[in-house]
Amino acid sequence: MKILAFETSCDETSIACLEVNKKKLNIPSFTISSQIKLHAKWGGVVPELAARQHTINIIPLLQETLQQAKWKPKDIDLLAVTSGPGLVTSLHVGVATAKALAAAWQKPLIGVNHIAGHLVSPFVNPNNWSWAFKKTIWPAVALVVSGGHTELYKMKSINQWQLLGKTLDDAVGEAFDKVGKMLQLPYPGGPKVSKLAVLGNDKAFAYPRPMLKTKDYNFSFAGLKTAVLYSLNKFDKQKIDQKIKSDICASFQTAALDVLITKTLKAAQANKAKTVIISGGVSANQALRQKMNAVLKKEIPNINILWPDLNVTGDNAAMIGLAAAVSTNFKISKKLSNNWQNINANANWELWN
Ligand code: KG4
Ligand code: ZN
Repeated sequence: MKILAFETSCDETSIACLEVNKKKLNIPSFTISSQIKLHAKWGGVVPELAARQHTINIIPLLQETLQQAKWKPKDIDLLAVTSGPGLVTSLHVGVATAKALAAAWQKPLIGVNHIAGHLVSPFVNPNNWSWAFKKTIWPAVALVVSGGHTELYKMKSINQWQLLGKTLDDAVGEAFDKVGKMLQLPYPGGPKVSKLAVLGNDKAFAYPRPMLKTKDYNFSFAGLKTAVLYSLNKFDKQKIDQKIKSDICASFQTAALDVLITKTLKAAQANKAKTVIISGGVSANQALRQKMNAVLKKEIPNINILWPDLNVTGDNAAMIGLAAAVSTNFKISKKLSNNWQNINANANWELWN
């Protein structure tokens, strides 16, 4: 089936053309227009500006994406759009655009949960796609780590998930971004904090590992973020040099990763997982990749570990199109005709409800 997918849940406008069935995945075009530069001046995403920029970007990006794929509207079998969770003003732009196209072109439309997209993102690669239906990889335990989410799921198949635990306060990406802001690093802080961490000593500051030993699979990062703030306040502002900043980044990153890795390992062991999937913006973090791989391979020698390619760790429409395809089981049922009337933005849509 040929799918045209849209993602506008935060600050990336993204559109993808996918041709997919159970055996084969082809992505003839895939575009992302990032707004990072626009929001960097404000130190974070400004919802009104994000929505305005999506509105400016989305139609030219649609024309470019269709042209690259050499697709005409008549070629498309299904439209897909992220309808939640996310910033409501941003979601509305993608949802309204996809609904208008579905009504005008008379195409079925599916509203996709953004987290369902992140969960399938390691398969957004024609070479990995065949893995998705191999019985030998399921059940899996999946860790989603992004700017808005930190969640652990058990997956029985590519389209069946069950929540094991989630953050009770800040998401881990949000904590990275806030530490970046405290250290006056440009937005988004995550990639910059991880870069500085490479140069620092991760034992320089004894930060807490919140909820490391609790029996559940929940997380908490607000206390860790506050511990970083307190340690920073002890210094005379003029004296906070590159060495102190790097040590703070390294110590913070190691504390955060320790919790993520310990809980993921515990969940994988308890659920007899054959595979661990890690996805979301923070899955681009190289220290997380190295440490998670080392710990999992040591403790569960036969485990498969799946990471998204670096072009799909962040928000993108290719993962949304793939999640839509999987949800249909690759057939367009009659109940999808005129389905655009049922699709609305839902900023708080929880995958587990
Ligand atoms: O998935 P994503 O693009 O958007 C959401 O759905 O939230 O994730 C963005 C988050 C931001 O908090 C960003 O700082 C973080 O992912 N991030 C990183 C790295 N690259 C992106 N955090 C730590 N290390 C990185 N290398
Ligand atoms: Zn995301």
